[in-house]
Amino acid sequence: MVQQQLSRPRVLITGVSGFLGRWVATFATAHYEVMGTYFRHAVVLPGVRTFPLDICDPQAVADCVAHWQPEVILHAAVYIGEVTRMREVIVEGTGHLLRAAERVGAYFVYVSTDLVFDGEHAPYAETDPPRPVLPYGQAKWEAERQVRCFPGNALIVRPSLLCHLDPPDPRTRWVLKAANGQVEATFFVDEFRTPAWVVDVARALVEVMARRVQGVLHLAGPQRLSRYDLAVRLAHAWGLPSDRLRAGRRAESGLIRPGDTSLDTTRARRLLTTRLHSIDEGLQRPDISRCPDPAQKRQVPEPGDSGTWHTTPGGERST
Ligand SMILES: NC(=O)c1ccc[n+]([C@@H]2O[C@H](COP(=O)([O-])OP(=O)(O)OC[C@H]3O[C@@H](n4cnc5c(N)ncnc54)[C@H](OP(=O)(O)O)[C@@H]3O)[C@@H](O)[C@H]2O)c1
Repeated sequence: MVQQQLSRPRVLITGVSGFLGRWVATFATAHYEVMGTYFRHAVVLPGVRTFPLDICDPQAVADCVAHWQPEVILHAAVYIGEVTRMREVIVEGTGHLLRAAERVGAYFVYVSTDLVFDGEHAPYAETDPPRPVLPYGQAKWEAERQVRCFPGNALIVRPSLLCHLDPPDPRTRWVLKAANGQVEATFFVDEFRTPAWVVDVARALVEVMARRVQGVLHLAGPQRLSRYDLAVRLAHAWGLPSDRLRAGRRAESGLIRPGDTSLDTTRARRLLTTRLHSIDEGLQRPDISRCPDPAQKRQVPEPGDSGTWHTTPGGERST
């Protein structure tokens, strides 16, 4: 048993105290010896060795990777907020990890975002040129450009919005608070995304690692939805009325937001056996949208607990 554990390939996952990283680490334990890093929120996950790491500390990153010698590094850590710090974590932190990965010859998977696109020419294929309009998207695009220069095997994955119904992810929690009248929030009817269930994306990432997919890969759901239509569906799935969810337009908010960053997922559908279900399908499938594991339920942070929770004047997280 111990021998079996030792002979498994090692994967180092950054950001396992986060929403996506936690799921990927959990699924990856079936195939890998999994090391997971957190920053400020210590986390315990069955079968995962977790420890703190600040990816902005180049020596700590180098030491960590040299110590564990992972075959795969999946980089999901992120900070979204104050711009200088955000750039430090997203751009410089990714650079430190890439240099460490190169030294041990690891396959590198970088989790990016659909917000590298300007929202004017959807749906976007992997070959379309990024033109970010938000500082977050700009930082992710700069990080992507570093990954493109990586001399070893590497993949850039671009998810759209990630969802989980129960326990609700931080954004869904915000929708539920708005539907309950606990907060006032505006949901845009003219901002479109291709949201996916986090469980599907996490499973797809584990498959991607096994297949050593390279280049750029869009991992998003098949259903294009406005932020408002998504919020209504999530509220109704919780048995809440949607009349308190305020519908609004981007232009009225004073915010600069990309209008439509829907992703073309043809490449993922050709390459992977993991299927990414639509929001409507997932709402009918408890195995995709609801969590059977009470340990996972306990560990989802409340909005405001995480350094990466931010609200816009419209009351939504800035991703
Ligand atoms: N969520 C979405 O809808 C969505 C959509 C598209 C793309 N993405 C991408 O998917 C990835 C995961 O997103 P997420 O929603 O899971 O993020 P998240 O829940 O905000 O988690 C962020 C993670 O990064 C860690 N972190 C923050 N600063 C760090 C630092 N200096 N050093 C090391 N770790 C640090 C956090 O650790 P602590 O909590 O312990 O401090 C946490 O584990 C990100 O790359 C994001 O850009 C997410």
